Amino acid sequence: MDMHKPIINIKNLAKEYYFSSTVIRALNKVSIKINRGEFSILCGPSGSGKTTLLNLLGLIDLPTQGSILLDGKNTEKLNRVQRADFRLNNIGFIFQKYYLLDELNAVENVFLPALAKEGHSARLVKKAENILELVGLKDRVKHKPKYLSEGEKQRVAVARSLINEPAILLCDEPTASLDADNSKVILDLLAKINKESFATVFLVTHDERQLKYGDKVIQIIDGEIVSN
Ligand SMILES: Nc1ncnc2c1ncn2[C@@H]1O[C@H](COP(=O)(O)OP(=O)(O)OP(=O)(O)O)[C@@H](O)[C@H]1O
Ligand SMILES: [Mg+2]
Repeated sequence: MDMHKPIINIKNLAKEYYFSSTVIRALNKVSIKINRGEFSILCGPSGSGKTTLLNLLGLIDLPTQGSILLDGKNTEKLNRVQRADFRLNNIGFIFQKYYLLDELNAVENVFLPALAKEGHSARLVKKAENILELVGLKDRVKHKPKYLSEGEKQRVAVARSLINEPAILLCDEPTASLDADNSKVILDLLAKINKESFATVFLVTHDERQLKYGDKVIQIIDGEIVSN
């Protein structure tokens, strides 16, 4: 781990979607550098390319042009299996929709992303319980999603994103389904995680009240970065 290199280094990124016979240029000439431990906020209008950028950063999708270096590693060179592996070990995701599994209780949802890596163990369950305690859900460990409030569900999703101790936390409008109070709880939590675990947080938001949480605010319009 090199503390001085940017943990995220996006160079001249473009993404085109081919839809029936048209080409949609969702990102154009996007270059961004983010240092380790920074809390960055990406904001821009609907359709401006925010989710597209996050999916590329999370190695969920591939760019049409340009490169993404994560922790100094050129992700272009990774094959499909290596990308999945890198993602599992280095990147946590939080989405607007929580994507919790209904049949699993809170603690099971939280340790699920670690099962493939290390298998089930008492130690893993304990770790998941500790993270649920960190997000204020110590007494909701055995609850299935249908018995949780919206804010609690998102806190379970935050806990799940942390189970593999990611260096990078990608958050795509995590508070869009929440009221103001619950949104603040989630943002305060992300700020705390950012401070205490030194995870680099990259947050997409529409909510201007959240801009103050960012060390840096990046604005995107029509697929291009307009201020950084
Ligand atoms: N799979 C796809 N196929 C074709 N076009 C797509 C696809 N995904 C996104 N787009 C288009 O790319 C552009 C950027 O979409 P994107 O989802 O990144 O926007 P966004 O900034 O996240 O918007 P929102 O704030 O509404 O979530 C839009 O014009 C969208 O219609
Ligand atoms: Mg989006």
